[in-house]
Amino acid sequence: MSVRDRKMSGGTGAAVAPVRTPSTGTPPGAYRGRAYGEGLGATERKDAWWFLPLLQALGLLVLIGYANYAAILGASHHQFVENGRDYLSPFYSPYLNPAWRPQWLSPALLILMWPLGFRATCYYYRKAYYRSFFLDPMGCAVGEGRKGYAGETKFPFILQNLHRYFLYAALVFVVILWVDVVKAFIIDGRFAVALGSIFVLASTTTITLYTFSCHSLRHIVGGRLDCFSCAVAGGPRHSTWTGVSRLNEHHMGFAWLSLFCVCAADLYIRLCSMHVIPDIRLF
Ligand code: FES
Repeated sequence: MSVRDRKMSGGTGAAVAPVRTPSTGTPPGAYRGRAYGEGLGATERKDAWWFLPLLQALGLLVLIGYANYAAILGASHHQFVENGRDYLSPFYSPYLNPAWRPQWLSPALLILMWPLGFRATCYYYRKAYYRSFFLDPMGCAVGEGRKGYAGETKFPFILQNLHRYFLYAALVFVVILWVDVVKAFIIDGRFAVALGSIFVLASTTTITLYTFSCHSLRHIVGGRLDCFSCAVAGGPRHSTWTGVSRLNEHHMGFAWLSLFCVCAADLYIRLCSMHVIPDIRLF
């Protein structure tokens, strides 16, 4: 149901006749399409159905490969504190450095399970990596390797249901990341804008859009309600749900953009910290 289809109920209590869909005469699930019984990758499709899964696989390999490098091997250049600047890589925020942390353990690994869990259980990323890496399914009307379907009801995939809890953590991270943005716009104790400030801002803005377009958030704020006007605070919840739904239409784009911007911000801060490039002050 699109945002435009769903309206506030008038709350008059008038009986509404259920809408009946005309039967096709075929029991649900009886016809699965020819590809269901075919071998892996067999299809009659003539379009380049394989291109998108391939592109997604390459994109994920590059960006997640970089994120791993930054979080595990790149701990010594996670922050740029020089010439009045204070830029912290988003992979290291919030920066935790307890006394018991051994030298070999990157501070990023102390917090990584939250953003990683949030992305790994995200509905969009699940579709992307199931399709690109598990080939399950590779595409619509394309033969699958697996002939049974258990949904996400067994270990390890049942853990995907933790997404809602990772979302709660992600909302806390959004607040922390905006504190980093404020710090990035203060140079020599005054408001100023440098290229680093823009990178940090872009990273946090896209992470915020990605988080606030989450399917679970849409469900929590109102998606699970049948009648807004019957619910407590129905009006504000309807407005919130409408806003989240509008963002949700672009969730896939925000997922990619935020992953790219986080890596770009880390790379920029890293290169400044290594004195490979100077941080350009704009005003
Ligand atoms: Fe993608 Fe929640 S569904 S972040």
